Amino acid sequence: MAPLTVAGTVRVPGDKSISHRALILAALADGESVIRDVLVAEDTASTAYALRALGNDAPPLGSEMRIHGTGVRDLRAPESPLDCGNSGTTVRLLAGVVAGHPFSTTFTGDESLSRRPMRRIAEPLTAMGARISFAKDDGLPMTVQGGNLQHIAWTSEVASAQVKSAILLAGLVAGVPVSVREPRPSRDHTERMLRALGMEVTRSRDGVTKLTPGASLDPFELTVPGDASSAAFFIALAALAARGTVTLPGVCIDPARTGFLRAVRRMGAKIRVSGKTEATGEEIGTVSAGPGALRAISVKPGEIPAMIDELPLLACVAARAEGETVVRGAAELRVKESDRIAAIVDNLRGLGADAEAFDDGFAVRGSDKPLRGTVRTYGDHRIAMSFGVLGCGHGNEIRIDDRDCVAVSYPAFWADLKKVVA
Ligand code: S3P
Repeated sequence: MAPLTVAGTVRVPGDKSISHRALILAALADGESVIRDVLVAEDTASTAYALRALGNDAPPLGSEMRIHGTGVRDLRAPESPLDCGNSGTTVRLLAGVVAGHPFSTTFTGDESLSRRPMRRIAEPLTAMGARISFAKDDGLPMTVQGGNLQHIAWTSEVASAQVKSAILLAGLVAGVPVSVREPRPSRDHTERMLRALGMEVTRSRDGVTKLTPGASLDPFELTVPGDASSAAFFIALAALAARGTVTLPGVCIDPARTGFLRAVRRMGAKIRVSGKTEATGEEIGTVSAGPGALRAISVKPGEIPAMIDELPLLACVAARAEGETVVRGAAELRVKESDRIAAIVDNLRGLGADAEAFDDGFAVRGSDKPLRGTVRTYGDHRIAMSFGVLGCGHGNEIRIDDRDCVAVSYPAFWADLKKVVA
């Protein structure tokens, strides 16, 4: 097989995190919002479905959606449990929203989502005045009985945008001030959007995000920028190539999301960001990526939140970099769509690469030997796409056991990948 050459432009789909938030905030606004380029995928479909079950008349996901919001406290009790599929963001953000409504909502999900920790949001929402019960010790099914919530100043043990956003949305719906201290800054899309819509949201130097909500939320127009996490797959592909460039226009370049871009640049790949603009509080740019001689890096715990979803991909790039790449302080990977530390290390080893697992991270020692075998995705979209990229590398023959699981965040992934591999 010839060395990998890449060429072309990929317009990656709308950002998943921003799409969820846009749908939710549009449903809570007073009037009609227009959302363009929302991510059309299973996870965002779960949020739109849940909002419909809560009384909003959201249309099917599409490139231009008009959503009629009826106000911050006007959702209705759902008739049956809300099945959130694979989507952690749907459950955790909507738990905050329904906690401020005077009815009971039960959340369910697929096998992976049902195992994921929910007490991290139940604790602050309970402290605000909601009553939350679990069918098991943690995870789903979870029932939230909402009511009159009180203000809160919460300290979260984990750097989690979902925890922070659940609290901010509960504060917004209940009309009470809230603040959240996090150990390291997590992605800040909720804050950016709320601020762009005129709400007072501050962040102090010592890591406290504070919302002082207004009485109502104005409707808005928003074009969702391209997903930085989806763009990362093509950046990695270009980094692993022997020659060529991939161009990714219209990508969200919020520093809270571009840790992977900085990491592969440090490894030696050629990455350029141009044409920076701003819209509805988000920074957007064109990213172009090309190969370089890849060297191993050490990722510090402080860098983790800005590349949390890209760590499986970083491990795949590290398998082709000279030296030992070490990632620590990433225990959160254990509770993602799969146990991503186990999925990364077991799969890399199964393919013939040299990798080691830690409780809170992994080490990968790169080589140029051919990597061959079948990857077990555990139904995890990011494992499928990360190893799909590695499989394009020179000499590798990698089969993915469940290619279809990419539908969670990027249904056209395999087609887009094919377009840029010359
Ligand atoms: C997300 C936050 C992150 C991330 C997830 C999306 C969000 O999760 O891993 O894919 O949209 O808020 P945590 O909040 O658990 O870190």
